[in-house]
Amino acid sequence: MVKLTTLCENTAMGMGYTGEWGLSVLAESKEETVLLDTGFSDSILRNSVTAGVDLKKINKIVLSHGHSDHTGGLRPLLQKLSKKMDITAHPRVWDKKYTARSTGGSSGYRFIGIPFCKEELEGLGASFSYSKAPVWLNDHMVTTGEIPMVTPFEKIDKNMLIKTEDGFVPDPLLDDRALVIKTGKGLVIILGCAHRGMINTIIHAREITGIEKIYTVIGGTHLIRAGKEQLEQTIAALKDFNVEKLGVSHCTGLPPSAVLASEFGENFFFNNAGNVVEL
Ligand SMILES: [Fe+2]
Ligand SMILES: [Fe+2]
Repeated sequence: MVKLTTLCENTAMGMGYTGEWGLSVLAESKEETVLLDTGFSDSILRNSVTAGVDLKKINKIVLSHGHSDHTGGLRPLLQKLSKKMDITAHPRVWDKKYTARSTGGSSGYRFIGIPFCKEELEGLGASFSYSKAPVWLNDHMVTTGEIPMVTPFEKIDKNMLIKTEDGFVPDPLLDDRALVIKTGKGLVIILGCAHRGMINTIIHAREITGIEKIYTVIGGTHLIRAGKEQLEQTIAALKDFNVEKLGVSHCTGLPPSAVLASEFGENFFFNNAGNVVEL
């Protein structure tokens, strides 16, 4: 059995949980305990206490990509764990990531990459390994590696940039990936932000594992800025895949979430901080 506990998400699921813009999901199985992302700051430390899960059991961290709302919890987490920790990521996770979007009245470029230097995290116990390809963590958990963009309706957010010697250039988000779990009921796919497309991610997960059946998809879908057409085509693809359970989070946004909720009915849920899924 695999138990998924969402330790950081924009919205608190219930009393005692802290909502924080970001995502972190703990996947516990008999063999090991894997943490996908760490949220933006230290909400995972408080939320793990409320959820009654022991972070010391974590033996691998998977980074879905290098944005700060998924990596900002690394420092407080490593300080708390105080042990060597394997962290698997794509080599481009350290790109100098920025957004061109204005927030809170301020405009211009805003840094949204990993808010620590590698050496500091290594000093706290982090042991990074990098791969562009899928990484099998055990016989039933795999990271997707780079996700090919094959659907005509999914595009990378134009406001996502990288600062280079030649100035700001579009971020291809090659580091974007998901965690995939093989279960008896089909694949369970945990998305970080799905910057390269939720449907592209599902297609790639099927190819990597050779398993067609999609049981559950949870996490950030980045539909927050999708137009009507992309949302409609995404819904059509999810229905075509016969996704049994859909638990959206984070960068899905409330209006697209509401549309998904009405389309998927009792198979839909909000995957917020404190939500538990047992597989
Ligand atoms: Fe995010
Ligand atoms: Fe992101």
